[in-house]
Amino acid sequence: MCGIFAYLNFNATHERRHIVELLFNGLRRLEHRGYDCAGISIDADPCRGPLRVSSGAVLPSPPPLVFRQEGKIENLVSSFYHEAVVAELDLELSFTSHAGIAHTRWATHGEPSPINSHPQTSGEGNEFLVVHNGIVTNYMDLKETLLKYGFHFESDTDTEVIPKLALQLEGAYALIFKSPYYPNELVACKRGSPLLLGVKETGDMRTDINVEMMPTRSWKHTRKVLVIEDNEVVHMKDGAVHVFKFDSDKSRQLLRPASVQRGLSTLEMEVEQIRKGNFEHFMQKKIQEQPDSLTMTMSDRLIRGGEQKAKGILLGRLKDHLKTIRRSRRILFIGCGTSYNAALAARPVIASDLLDRQGPIYREDTAIFVSQSGETADTLQALEYAKSNGALCVAITNTVCSAIARGTHCGIHLNAGCEIGVASTKAYTSQNAVIQRRNAIMDDLYDLPSKVRDVLKLDKDMKELAALLMDEQSLLVFGRGYNYATALECALKVKEVSLMHAEGIVAGEMKHGPLALVDETLPIIVIATRDASLNKQQSVIQQLKTRKGRLIDMCTEGDAEFMCPDRTCRIIEVPKVQDCLQPIINIVPLQLLAYHLTVFRGFNVDQPRNLAKSVTTQ
Ligand code: F6R
Repeated sequence: MCGIFAYLNFNATHERRHIVELLFNGLRRLEHRGYDCAGISIDADPCRGPLRVSSGAVLPSPPPLVFRQEGKIENLVSSFYHEAVVAELDLELSFTSHAGIAHTRWATHGEPSPINSHPQTSGEGNEFLVVHNGIVTNYMDLKETLLKYGFHFESDTDTEVIPKLALQLEGAYALIFKSPYYPNELVACKRGSPLLLGVKETGDMRTDINVEMMPTRSWKHTRKVLVIEDNEVVHMKDGAVHVFKFDSDKSRQLLRPASVQRGLSTLEMEVEQIRKGNFEHFMQKKIQEQPDSLTMTMSDRLIRGGEQKAKGILLGRLKDHLKTIRRSRRILFIGCGTSYNAALAARPVIASDLLDRQGPIYREDTAIFVSQSGETADTLQALEYAKSNGALCVAITNTVCSAIARGTHCGIHLNAGCEIGVASTKAYTSQNAVIQRRNAIMDDLYDLPSKVRDVLKLDKDMKELAALLMDEQSLLVFGRGYNYATALECALKVKEVSLMHAEGIVAGEMKHGPLALVDETLPIIVIATRDASLNKQQSVIQQLKTRKGRLIDMCTEGDAEFMCPDRTCRIIEVPKVQDCLQPIINIVPLQLLAYHLTVFRGFNVDQPRNLAKSVTTQ
């Protein structure tokens, strides 16, 4: 996945410095989508007279300038200003109309390097330039054909075929094109990857292409957006936007040259959501926000009974479909990564695995798609698959207007607020709250935010524990029943942000293999809070102690003595709630542990190595 961004000002004079800064700021908002390389293309100084390039073609305007750099956006920013000085680029030069494009890359095809960064171009003269989010799956075939026709390739990317032949593309893409043949115009299109167009009322046009729309919402210029659908092509020229529809079944023929009519949507988001405030990292802030995000997830959905307790749960957007859901032969929960872990309470299906196996889905099924971003490519493909098999499709997402929210028949919005750090935290606890069985949890749901607030007080203890564990190679986490998900999610968080190997293991499997790893050095967290499996977990602790395991026990408040009478284990005590809600409490100190481990180990908390926030490629 990558972030692509463009800014087109029409009849609104801006200096070059301002335009470049707009592009950089757009990219900064998208950086969580990939931070391996970045690049922009802007117009060169206008010059008089026709310009001939080596292909013999005459360009009506000079070849656009391209600046690309390996690494994070700030690398691009500093190299741009350095190159601008060297090339004596006039940053005060004004443009009344100008189309700039920009890209931040998560490398899939071709290692991170300036040459593999976008914009990718058609070659010398930069006659066509493109920024791309997605993967062109048939690029090898296209490249082979183009090489036969004498085209030269300089990068290892799949994208480079696009500016040379923007036809016959297979795979997923959101693309924006710029060309000196069509100065001050932009063309964008999409299939599979997300694309949004923000329109500023004064006449500026800005295209903002990203999954979560978060950058758009926080963008100070506009909240008015046009959501572009698959197989649509957008042409922006002279202050007007035209949307055309492709018919994907009819050999990609443009069916309607007239504009597709669609109203603008308004995006809502508080800028505060994307600021760190007094926190050092977004992950830390989002962990601490969980009492509020859970309250928001539940607000207006718990119907009050007497004495503050709930007598029912209302999920408004499902109500028209309840009959079908009740009649369903099966209810399948489908998601990836943390969302899969959250859905474990309900025996979920991994989206990519469902697709790989083409697992059975029937008309009588209800398929529930769990996704924070609402844009994960695997989950989205699984949704198309379930829909084509006639299942009722329900979304649980944190992003209104996302592809999964739009593509399902009905759904539940998490209302957890946006997550900026790549690692999912508060969405996990909200997903978990939404998925649980209803009668058993209604009363405890009310108390959940205050219990999460209590457990957040363990921050100092978790920091101390992280200081003890920071130099370890590996960490095991044993959970069972409802807390198997907690073990998996703890291990995922530790792995992805602190880059320490961690493994979540279902405790019942301990003696079938993992026990061999146990010695006095390897740290092991055992989640043993009170539920039906407490006795079994106690027995696991005993067996691990017999093998001189280095144990950290998570237990219910007041159980420390009972869990470890000889006080040889380190203890994390947490408040008790209904068994199926307990994972929401238990994960919080473990999120804090992952956070502090990362800071101590000196890694980037909010932008872990090799990852990106929304995985919009398969
Ligand atoms: C881990 C994490 C990922 C995502 C996964 C699915 O912290 O965030 O594992 O959970 O990529 O993403 P969504 O929920 O956006 O579909």
